[in-house]
Amino acid sequence: MERRWWKESVVYQVYPRSFMDSNGDGIGDLRGLVDRLDYIRELGADVIWLSPIYQSPNKDNGYDISDYFSIMQDFGTMEDWELLVEEIHDRGMKLMMDLVMNHTSDEHPWFVESRRSKDNPYRDFYIWRPPGRDGGPPNNWASMFGGSAWEYCEETGEYYLHLFSKHQPDLNWDNPRVRRTLYDMVWWWINKGVDGFRMDVINSISKDQSFPSAGEGELANGKQYYENGPHVHEYLQEMNREVLSRFDLMTVGETGGATTEDALRYACSEEKELQMIFHFEHVRLDYGEDKWSVVPWKLKDLIDVLSRWQKELEGKAWNSLYFNNHDQPRSVSRFGHDKEFRVPSAKLLATMLHMLQGTPYIYQGEEIGMTNVRFPSIEDYRDISTLQFYKEQVEEKGRDPQDVLEVIYKRGRDNARTPMQWNAAEHAGFTTGTPWIQVHPNYTMVNVEAERSDPNSVFHYYRRLISLRKKHPIVVYGSYELVPTDGEQLFVYRRKLKRQRLVVILNVSDRPAVYHWSEDWSMAEGRLLISNYPPLEGYGSGGAAKEMKLRPYEARVYGYGL
Ligand code: GLC
Ligand code: CA
Repeated sequence: MERRWWKESVVYQVYPRSFMDSNGDGIGDLRGLVDRLDYIRELGADVIWLSPIYQSPNKDNGYDISDYFSIMQDFGTMEDWELLVEEIHDRGMKLMMDLVMNHTSDEHPWFVESRRSKDNPYRDFYIWRPPGRDGGPPNNWASMFGGSAWEYCEETGEYYLHLFSKHQPDLNWDNPRVRRTLYDMVWWWINKGVDGFRMDVINSISKDQSFPSAGEGELANGKQYYENGPHVHEYLQEMNREVLSRFDLMTVGETGGATTEDALRYACSEEKELQMIFHFEHVRLDYGEDKWSVVPWKLKDLIDVLSRWQKELEGKAWNSLYFNNHDQPRSVSRFGHDKEFRVPSAKLLATMLHMLQGTPYIYQGEEIGMTNVRFPSIEDYRDISTLQFYKEQVEEKGRDPQDVLEVIYKRGRDNARTPMQWNAAEHAGFTTGTPWIQVHPNYTMVNVEAERSDPNSVFHYYRRLISLRKKHPIVVYGSYELVPTDGEQLFVYRRKLKRQRLVVILNVSDRPAVYHWSEDWSMAEGRLLISNYPPLEGYGSGGAAKEMKLRPYEARVYGYGL
């Protein structure tokens, strides 16, 4: 398999608003990030994925861009950004920017122009349609953030499409001028020193131009008509040909609803489109009808999904590996255990992910085991999609507010957006002012300072996992093989590279478990590379023994021939 730097890297995602505030206004910023680069370096990550820092009215925290060429005032200035790239590069790290190209802000000058008149030169930058037969929206598509995906404009008597909030009108990628303008923008950032891009909802850029309704309902999910839409591969190949392929970049597309088959097109090794994608199959295992309906996830399903992606992409496309990002609840609360087993389960999840084939992504705070938050009131929440959901359920449907909050505790995006917990001082050391969103109350216990001084912390465990990756190519390039178990408690897999072997043994449960060793080499011949528990008589390394007892959330990785 071809060696590439972005396969060997570990990415650390920074959500700048919540990372570090340098000037006491309660909002994280670029100077704050510069100040903490040594921390990210110490962790061992090589690439920083920075969530959007472009000028934006912030309806969706920067995912609504009003100027692609300037920096949001809250975050600093272009000089601060230039300093940031320089400081990142000085440390031998790389910077991946977040590109939001499916839509802009409704305050973007293109949209301000576009809405003016039907013959405005920017009209076709967005998607406008006359009212439907009943005078209402052109079709029944629902916006991802609630309500219709169409907004009416008095000025011209037409509707524009917004798959997200009405402040995020969708760009019209079928217009070649739009594509050209966006590619030029991408060039511009590459010339400024960017090393890669994460592309926001990139598989939704091409819509079925007949805009059919999705079934009969008044509002319905229209994804089948725009996710992995008719021309998406054509456009990505064009962007690749005209821009991306001319540089040695790391690219990852956010592609909700993508299957492994889709991945073989988006991220095939011939690199005609992107280098990898974020699929969502594993983070939708606990969805009912949609993300706001919570059902229990099953280990069997998680194993199936992860294994399928490993096998079906192997040798053909490259996997990205993640449990967390700024849209997902905290993984330790979701797939692990955020009470007495918080530490071992956080380490177990890290082991599960970092030992798979692919490029691992760490989301800020994951490396110290940050957990979901339960704020007492909706007033404490900030996320546009959470607020819309609450409003719909409570004000429009009359649901009990407490019940709705319970769902938000499990699913709300603010779970991931509470400020980074640096120390046990006021506001977790994130700001000297009033934070834009409150700090998680567990910061006195869960914080970077405490984690750094404890050799058995989640933080140091991540460091060890990352250094294993740097030391042993098998962690990056080894093939994957699932070891069958009953799938109730255990997840066991092998990696192979030439004569080398790894066995990853995970007890994904809060009860003890027993694993029957099934390798053709004995535990004694191998080497325990990492484990999240101290050795204890009768547990783990039993020499020639065949039975391995495992404690709750115990993770063990054995190596052979390395
Ligand atoms: C992506 C982003 C999310 C944002 C949405 C609209 O899913 O990750 O934060 O709200 O796109 O841009
Ligand atoms: Ca600030």
